[in-house]
Amino acid sequence: MTTTKSTKIISAHGDALSKEELSLVRETVKRGGLVVFPTETVYGLGADGTNDSAAHAIYEAKGRPSNNPLIIHIANPADADRYCVTSELYDRLAAAFMPGPLTVILPKKDIIPQSVTGGLATVAVRCPSHPIANAIIRACETPIAAPSANLSGKPSPTCAKYCIEDMNGRADIIIDGGDCLFGIESTIVKPEDDGSVTLLRPGAVTVEDLLTVAERVNIADGVIERPREDALPLSPGMLYKHYAPTTDFYLLDGCDEAIYTYLNTRENNCVFLMVEEDKPHISDNIKTISLGSREHPEEEAHLLFTALRRADEMGADTIYARLPDEKGLNLALLNRLIRASAHRIIKL
Ligand code: TXA
Ligand code: MG
Repeated sequence: MTTTKSTKIISAHGDALSKEELSLVRETVKRGGLVVFPTETVYGLGADGTNDSAAHAIYEAKGRPSNNPLIIHIANPADADRYCVTSELYDRLAAAFMPGPLTVILPKKDIIPQSVTGGLATVAVRCPSHPIANAIIRACETPIAAPSANLSGKPSPTCAKYCIEDMNGRADIIIDGGDCLFGIESTIVKPEDDGSVTLLRPGAVTVEDLLTVAERVNIADGVIERPREDALPLSPGMLYKHYAPTTDFYLLDGCDEAIYTYLNTRENNCVFLMVEEDKPHISDNIKTISLGSREHPEEEAHLLFTALRRADEMGADTIYARLPDEKGLNLALLNRLIRASAHRIIKL
């Protein structure tokens, strides 16, 4: 395991790196090294996306199975042609949502090694809008393969503190670029021949947004696992855990009143991921972490992963959160919460 690197931490002042810092990043990437960098979604653990052994180093540093493929990050949507086979639908998605939090799955070209795509014939492509991410890709003159910069299974890091927690000693460089704007990973879609797109992972580009470009949005299996109507009150884990805190985590599926009654009668040491509107209804002995106002799902998404890490730090024995609906950005929240809780949903 790669735990012995001496990691250099660079604090980006404003949204830029100096010329010297960019050349250090370039040298590191050229020799197959690993660089943690900020994007507008979450931090990435980047390496040369055309270098087979660099891709292996990413999997090793994250403790991630090498059949779970990586996204390649490009500086300009038009560069996708060099690495994969694009289409008219890709061009329309790119015009509408790139640079930004959208990843598109396309047939790969030979220049992208099999290790990057986990053996698949397709590759995931994304053009981040974060100026530091963009500057790094340009400086390296290669696509940057990057998963989220967390240890496999942990919540994606949305600030440098958690990158350092997970990747110190594992990456060569960690660039501290402050808080990520969206705080939730990119939307992933696969364009289909009939003009529709299949949604593989919901994110800040919503189904409603995609419908302005694609004729239809098919939701892939596994994006939303709703409890069956005949499910027992407590659904045990059905999916593999992801984005997960280490503390026991349950989602509460019910109206506000039922959720308040449930929480206020708990006698365990628990923490509730609440919205501001909940505050007056929750008794003082329940610890809370606020995800902002119910009126602002983008704020909830922005705060979610940090809240999951903070909830662990609070030393409670159980974490609770409300099961969101599926509208707009809530679909992304729902998807992450279901996975973080390993589908443990308490029907109230
Ligand atoms: O916002 C993001 O997308 C962040 C930042 C760093 O760009 N990256 C990210 O990467 O979330 P990662 O590796 O944590 O998640 C990428 C997801 C994985 O679930 C992977 O299975 C899927 O994308 N994926 C990658 N290539 C794929 C492919 N060819 N076909 C289907 N799914 C793919
Ligand atoms: Mg990830």
